[in-house]
Order: sequence, then C-alpha cells, then structure tokens
Amino acid sequence: MNHLLQQIENYKQEINNCAITNADEVEAFRIKYLGTKGIVKSIMGFMKDVPNEQKKEAGQLLNEFKLFVEAKYESLKAVSSNNQDNTSTIDITLPGSPTLVGSRHPINLVRNKIVSIFQRLGFAIAEGPEIEDDWHNFGAMNLPEDHPARDMQDTFYIHQNPAWLLRTHTSSVQARVMENQKPPIRVICPGRVYRNETISARAHCFFHQVEGLYIDEKVSFADLKQTLYFFVQEMFGKDVKVRFRPSYFPFTEPSAEMDISCLICNNNGCNVCKHTGWVEILGSGMVHPKVLENFGIDSNKYTGFAFGMGVERICQLKYRVNDLRLYSQNDVRFLKQFTSVV
Ligand code: DAH
Repeated sequence: MNHLLQQIENYKQEINNCAITNADEVEAFRIKYLGTKGIVKSIMGFMKDVPNEQKKEAGQLLNEFKLFVEAKYESLKAVSSNNQDNTSTIDITLPGSPTLVGSRHPINLVRNKIVSIFQRLGFAIAEGPEIEDDWHNFGAMNLPEDHPARDMQDTFYIHQNPAWLLRTHTSSVQARVMENQKPPIRVICPGRVYRNETISARAHCFFHQVEGLYIDEKVSFADLKQTLYFFVQEMFGKDVKVRFRPSYFPFTEPSAEMDISCLICNNNGCNVCKHTGWVEILGSGMVHPKVLENFGIDSNKYTGFAFGMGVERICQLKYRVNDLRLYSQNDVRFLKQFTSVV
C-alpha cells in the first residue's frame, strides 16, 4: 500500500512538471498515461495485491489519480489548441484582409469632367450660397415677383426670414459674380439647387447644375454655339449630333435650348427621349441687357452668353442611370459600379 502511494506521488510530480505545448506531445501524454497499456491501467493492476481491508482506501486513491490524469490531459489539450490558434493569427504569409476603398459619386465624377472641359477653355470656377435671397435668385435675373416663369421654379423658403430661399438654379451665382467682378468675365459655377417637386424617377427636390457665363466685348451667339459644341464632343464623343431650339428665359435674349441625339436608344426612340431621338441637355442664350445693367455693366459695350445644365441629366446619358432617386439613396450596389471610372 505504501509502495502504491509512493508511486502515485511520483507520477503526479512527473505530470505536474511536464512541459507540453503541441498536439503531438499531448497525444504522447495520453498514450503514456491513459492508453490501454498506459500507467493508469498498470497501476490498477496492483489492486489485486492489496489486502482486502485496504482495498477500499486503495480504490479511492487510484480513482483520484485517474481523475487527476484525465483533468490534466483535458487542460493540456485546451492549451495546445489555443496555441495553434495563436500561431494562425500571426501567420505573416497569409494575404492581408482587404480594405474597402470608396469611390467618387457619379454626380461628382460628371461634375468634375464638365468643369475640367470648361477650365481648358479658360473658364474659372465661381461658387455662391445655396441659401439665397430673392434678388440674386430671381429679381436680378429679370424675374420680378409677378413673373409667370417663377411658377416653374417653386422652392423652399426659410421660416426666420421669408426673403431667404433655397436657390432654384445656379444662375444666382451669375448675379453674384457680376456684382463683384468687372468684365471680362469667364466663369463656370457648379452647385446644388432645390425645387419644390414631388420626388419621382424624373424629378427630385434637389439636384445639381453647372452654370456658365462669358462676358466681354464682341461676344456673339457664334461663340456660344462653338463653346457648347466643343463641350458636347469632349463629353460624349465626336459622333453625337447637336441641335439648338429657340426657347425663352427671362435672363437671356435670344434664348435657346440645346438637344443632343439620344445616347440611350441611338435615335431609335425610348422613354428617355420620349421617342423623339433627341434629349435636351441645357438652356442658354445671350445675357439679357437688363441683367447686365442690373450690375452696372454697359450693355452697349459688352455682350455675353450664359448657359445652365443639369448634372443628373448628363450623368443619365453618360452612364445610363434611369432613376434620379438612385443618386441619393446611398445604395452601395449602385455606387460601387463607379469605382473604376475616373
Ligand atoms: N437657370 C435655368 C434653369 O434652371 C437654366 C439656364 C437657362 C441657365 C439659360 C442659363 C441660361 O444661364 O442662359 O432652368
């Protein structure tokens, strides 16, 4: 019995001192102590030599030893599998986890492209506030309070001051530029504008425009046409057809709208071009003498042209986006399609 006790004590010490780290060593431990020919089994064999009156005590001792070995085995197993996990997280040969890279919004891509085309023609960028006053948005642009053309540009007004409104077009920036600069003036004005419209696939309460203004001596309608032809070819390629239609804007005289051949259906007729084969992309004209005089610019000496286009419309034709709402829904499935477009 004492001999048995001594042996168990020795094995316990051996087990406590053993340094095991990997799965192979754990398996070797199992075979050595718990295997069919292992130490626990062989010590059990001593039971038959123990005198009857000590059998109960010896049985208890052996059982405790068995439980001790089993518990040690379980904890060694846990430590070795943890070690394996640790080594896998620091495996420097594995490829890194990819970082998602954002992309430019299609409206920004198109806006930048428009701006860079006009910058090459010598236009400078001008910006103005989105919260405007009535004068810069309407009055100065020859749209007095009772003018019916205001109906087409209903907007949002500011509670604290009814004279303030959200600008309905970037033409308000023309007013601010003429207020602060003397001719020659050659500016391009990109920005966000607002209208009180019900949101649908074709209309939104906000969208983006780019305005152009060129004032100098002897600026003619031919200059306007040539500038806009150049723009269309740079934007859409040489094959696109262009036409001018007479139109009306209070701030230009004469006025024209410019259409391009429909790029969605190649002139075969679709609902974007309303089956006409043509899509309107901008309004334009020669700056009305009254607008020039509003800012003390001598309309006998100076003439100018102006134009304004909707960025969403250009983007629709360039990238075939058929629903205005997509631009502001932040849906990554839509936005990530522009990742590779520069
Ligand atoms: N402001 C006009 C609109 O929002 C667009 C426009 C037309 C701008 C003719 C111009 C222009 O500068 O000359 O509908």
